[in-house]
Amino acid sequence: MGKMRAAICTKYGKPEVFQLKEVEKPVPKDNEVCIKIYATAVTASDIFIRSSNVPLRLKIFMRIMLGIRKPRNPIIGLVFAGVIESTGKDTKRFKPGDNVYGLTGYTLGTYAEYKCMKETDSTKGCIALKPSNISFEEATAIAYGGLLALQHIEKGNIQTGHRALIYGASGTSGTFAVQMAKHLGAEVTAVCGASNLEMVKSLGADHVIDYTTQDSLPEGIKYDFILDSVGIYKSSKLKKACKDTLSPTGKYASIDDGALKLDSRRLDRIREYVEHGYINPVIDRCYPLEDIIEAHRYVEKGHKKGGVAITIT
Ligand SMILES: NC(=O)c1ccc[n+]([C@@H]2O[C@H](COP(=O)([O-])OP(=O)(O)OC[C@H]3O[C@@H](n4cnc5c(N)ncnc54)[C@H](OP(=O)(O)O)[C@@H]3O)[C@@H](O)[C@H]2O)c1
Repeated sequence: MGKMRAAICTKYGKPEVFQLKEVEKPVPKDNEVCIKIYATAVTASDIFIRSSNVPLRLKIFMRIMLGIRKPRNPIIGLVFAGVIESTGKDTKRFKPGDNVYGLTGYTLGTYAEYKCMKETDSTKGCIALKPSNISFEEATAIAYGGLLALQHIEKGNIQTGHRALIYGASGTSGTFAVQMAKHLGAEVTAVCGASNLEMVKSLGADHVIDYTTQDSLPEGIKYDFILDSVGIYKSSKLKKACKDTLSPTGKYASIDDGALKLDSRRLDRIREYVEHGYINPVIDRCYPLEDIIEAHRYVEKGHKKGGVAITIT
């Protein structure tokens, strides 16, 4: 049996719970592929999982899914980008050497050098070929932010000339949503903090609003699509005001409406958008796996710009 390096999380708690260890390298079952992970990410979800510091209802649900007293899989981590190292005999979609990206769902396990998973979509993950024109680190931001945002944007029926408002435009899902709404022809208003206004403008936002200093939206304007991309646990007076600016036929969505769909066909569409240059990944910082504690401390502050990646060499 081979060995691999992994960041181990043997209990829920502060970022300091992580320990770097050598563990058994997984071997793919007949219906699994083995991915050599080159990059993972520290996402908002990873913070919820590691800290278990979430409202009670969510905590109960998460503990049932992930482990009651401690993480069932001590290797947490949800997002990966890497290369197919080997394939089980019953797999069909990938071959060794394919560059891939995706999410692992409730099985977690990406804070490590290798991960084995089924190649078919389920709550245990989804996997697709990675966009060829971006790095592994960038692919992690696009996988998580893209899947989160696109499932709502696709239902939003954004048409050329529509007004779209993205609340939380500077986060992982928000930076994707701004670019996607713009690509679909919308006039985009992006809401974020003062230090990120220029960044979201550079992504194509037509108008920017600082939620830390403004409590209301421009008088008389109605929006055809509003996406709350920070979710139900972060709010402001401005976010509450947003709901009153929806046009009668408009669509309001929160990134927390329903579960994140692990859909490899959506990952395929995201790859095409990226390869056509419609969407550019936004990466705030990259840390080596050895600095996973530092990376969690940073993301926990709640102001990452785009995604935070972990490089695994
Ligand atoms: N439904 C599901 O299954 C599911 C799964 C995973 C995640 N989620 C949700 O998705 C959310 C978004 O995750 P993410 O990674 O895209 O973003 P994130 O990392 O949670 O958001 C980071 C951004 O949020 C902005 N922000 C913080 N507080 C804000 C406020 N009160 N108003 C406006 N912006 C604020 C910050 O902007 P500034 O720095 O500019 O202030 C920062 O750029 C998660 O928090 C979670 O609730 C849902």
